[in-house]
Amino acid sequence: MAGPVIELTEVSRYYYMGEFVIKALDNVNVRIGTGEYTAIMGPSGSGKSTMMHLVGCLDTPTAGTIYIDAEDTSALNEEDLAYLRNAKIGFVFQQFNLLAKMNALENVMTPLMYAGYPMRRRKEIAENALEQVGLGDRMKHRPNELSGGQKQRIAIARALVNDPSIILADEPTGALDSVTGEQIMDLFEKINSQGKTVIMVTHDPEVSGRCKRVINLRDGHIAEDR
Ligand SMILES: Nc1ncnc2c1ncn2[C@@H]1O[C@H](COP(=O)(O)OP(=O)(O)OP(=O)(O)O)[C@@H](O)[C@H]1O
Ligand SMILES: [Mg+2]
Repeated sequence: MAGPVIELTEVSRYYYMGEFVIKALDNVNVRIGTGEYTAIMGPSGSGKSTMMHLVGCLDTPTAGTIYIDAEDTSALNEEDLAYLRNAKIGFVFQQFNLLAKMNALENVMTPLMYAGYPMRRRKEIAENALEQVGLGDRMKHRPNELSGGQKQRIAIARALVNDPSIILADEPTGALDSVTGEQIMDLFEKINSQGKTVIMVTHDPEVSGRCKRVINLRDGHIAEDR
């Protein structure tokens, strides 16, 4: 493996609920190389979303270290973490997480607000991202005027707009019918073939079957990695 883009070393995430401790992730070691295409599977509650939030620097581990591009993220403050997230990581969620009052173009432009481009340039980049996902003809539509698959394409365009090296997707096909889900998978494969590292949580064996590597979580542990 070329230098891993993501490395988790003895990573745990515990939740303390009164006298109970929930070990959502318990001493996990994993290395993911640049350009890998990985599925995370496992039963409900096994720690999949917890792992994605940690890898995406939306959450911090109770113990252990997470390296992104060989950088120890525990050494970073909130501002540096926000910068790293914005520059290197794109997120896609099951429920799309689009802003209802904004049209497709405005949704895709939001991550560019922090990049310091002038308005005209932001619009150009976002239009280009929407064309890449096949939505060049829906730029002015709001989320409630679009199908589930189209909403997910907008979310993917938004995740791509800063040209991150890592794409994290938590059940991106979970709210879609199987044909639409397959089209979204085609899109992730295209993104991966352009060199981006993709990690995708899924319950669907058809989806994980298209990934090159499958990590199975059980009760916060890696039960299988193939
Ligand atoms: N904020 C929280 N506070 C307390 N416990 C939590 C919190 N978030 C998650 N957990 C617990 O951590 C464990 C792992 O949760 P996680 O969301 O990672 O599961 P998951 O594998 O993504 O499940 P699903 O397939 O249902 O999405 C669960 O037992 C859950 O109840
Ligand atoms: Mg989850």
